[in-house]
Amino acid sequence: MKNFKRYLITSALPYANGPLHIGHLAGVYVPSDIYTRYLRMKGADVISICGSDEHGVPITLKARKEGISPQEVVDRYHTLNKKAFEDFGIAFDIYSRTSNKVHYDTASDFFLKIYNKGEFTEKISEQYYDEEAASFLADRYITGTCPHCGNENAYGDQCEKCGTSLSPNDLINPRSTISGSKPVLRETLHWYLPLDKYEGWLKKWILEDHKEWKTNVYGQCKSWIDQGLQPRAVSRDLDWGVPVPVEGAKGKVLYVWFDAPIGYISATKELTADWEKYWKDPETKMVHFIGKDNIVFHCIIFPAMLKAEGSFILPENVPANEFLNLENDKISTSRNWAVWLHEYLEEFPGKQDVLRYTLCSNAPETKDNDFTWKDFQARNNNELVAILGNFVNRTLVLTGKYYDGRVPERGITDENDNSVLKEISKIRENVESSIETFRFREALREAMNLARLGNKYLADAEPWKIDKTDPERVKTIMNIALQITANLTIILEPFLPFSMSKLRNWINIDLKKWDEAGNIDILKPGHAINKPDLLFEKIEDEAIKKQISKLESTKKVNESASSKVMPSKDQVTFEDFTKVDIRTATILEAEKVPKTTKLLKLKIDTGLDIRTIVSGIAEYYEPETIIGRQISIVANLEPRKIKGIESKGMILMAEDKEGRLVMVTPAEKVSNGSPIK
Ligand code: MF3
Ligand code: ZN
Repeated sequence: MKNFKRYLITSALPYANGPLHIGHLAGVYVPSDIYTRYLRMKGADVISICGSDEHGVPITLKARKEGISPQEVVDRYHTLNKKAFEDFGIAFDIYSRTSNKVHYDTASDFFLKIYNKGEFTEKISEQYYDEEAASFLADRYITGTCPHCGNENAYGDQCEKCGTSLSPNDLINPRSTISGSKPVLRETLHWYLPLDKYEGWLKKWILEDHKEWKTNVYGQCKSWIDQGLQPRAVSRDLDWGVPVPVEGAKGKVLYVWFDAPIGYISATKELTADWEKYWKDPETKMVHFIGKDNIVFHCIIFPAMLKAEGSFILPENVPANEFLNLENDKISTSRNWAVWLHEYLEEFPGKQDVLRYTLCSNAPETKDNDFTWKDFQARNNNELVAILGNFVNRTLVLTGKYYDGRVPERGITDENDNSVLKEISKIRENVESSIETFRFREALREAMNLARLGNKYLADAEPWKIDKTDPERVKTIMNIALQITANLTIILEPFLPFSMSKLRNWINIDLKKWDEAGNIDILKPGHAINKPDLLFEKIEDEAIKKQISKLESTKKVNESASSKVMPSKDQVTFEDFTKVDIRTATILEAEKVPKTTKLLKLKIDTGLDIRTIVSGIAEYYEPETIIGRQISIVANLEPRKIKGIESKGMILMAEDKEGRLVMVTPAEKVSNGSPIK
């Protein structure tokens, strides 16, 4: 393995449009913090970079919704999130933000450098424009009817009902969310990073040279590359962001995914005048901590940007995590389905480490995982309290009682003593290799084995039973228990920094270097320790019930919000109504559309003709069960191509509150083509 002189650790810049929750901590920031703290203890030259991502449409949308400026939105959440990170001990060297001047300059220069090399391609395309608001519309600013499921409030980039990703041109009946008016297509010029040109290089760099990347990361990269890379627009028509620094680019800003990762560079500049050695010297190991939705940006697009710019190093590894769910449901800001960090601290003050511990033990390293309050309680009570807390407490209380808080001499050690003492170095090595390969759950489990070892050692040796009869033996036992305790303050420090700092105060030592772990004489005989307190407290059922019922009421609120019957639509004239040609028809053939989960291709006898209709009902109907079924259709709907299949018309479906689709069938058989009026 290559030896590096220094480390540059980056953690995904969270959007400053909402508060942080446990999913953020588990996926990105707890792992990056453990890694950083470990490297610092190793004495490495390491900096850890983060900040707020303050551009992008979600921020302008939120500002519009609340009637405040985007700057006000980002100021609010930057402050809140910066504090949440500090409160949880996330050890960034800097928490910057992309609305800074340094960042604007850095991002502009970066763009210009690539621009001046002639690396961007320029292309004119047609994009939706709101004439009333005199503004181009980002995808999220356009809503309309989803061509797949008929949801009338689909966004220009995605239908949240059926999950299909869309482009604004797919929407039937598009509307601007700014003015409500019908947008028109207008030509606009943008700059593109020709990812296709970098395909060969990326293929080698990732698929051949970085086979060691986590399988979830490598797999996603491979599938992107195998599908063939397309040029990507790096500018947008928006008024919030870093202006495109070339002439004739009025009203255009850098795409948020172009400017945000450059935020890592600007934050480093803000941190140190010596920033270039971290970014330009190939002896720096750069590691990006991110969640899985960020993989393509950090493994493909940002590296291609860095390569195009030409003077920067590339990441050595991108240990992305999967997602954390909460009580069996996807964490969601809009549904308020989350444990917010600032709220957690109000409910469990001083218990940062309990959350850090639970999230790391259960981190979604290889697959999505679930956080439950019951598991949180069990980890606290059965592991932190019963093993670590119990061991430390017994050791320190007995030392106080027997020796007035002075470390006793270690006398003659037996075979078991020696093997216990030897085990400490082994545990250190295991933790080390797990951390260095980004297996933090495994690392924590191994680190806790030291507490388990200590706990078992004391329980087996039972010094409290022989303190009168064999005081010399008890001194040896207690000395060993104390050395284990001192070693715990090293080995558990990256994971549980708040508790280990307390523990160091009680045993009266400073933070040691990582490589001291394994030393069995950290505490010298006669060294005085302080009066301990409890390291962890039991969490009672009451506290857990309270959290669960809080989530239950969130669920109720969400259900009643979604169970409201759809409000009635605007009135139409009878004439409008008669324009729609609704009639009966019969399904002749039905088959799944390959590579889709929702679509069925149907052959229909409409009385007028035999035709093909593609319908988004595959989740509700098995093809073979609906052949011969009579249905209702809109016969004169403009034909559309769906997955390459020409679909003529639409099957009428009733959609219930859960989004389930049910066919509308005439109560009795009638001839095909009978008009419905
Ligand atoms: N704001 C993005 C997100 O939360 C992450 C940006 S990471 C960056 O998904 F570095 F590229 F900024
Ligand atoms: Zn849809």
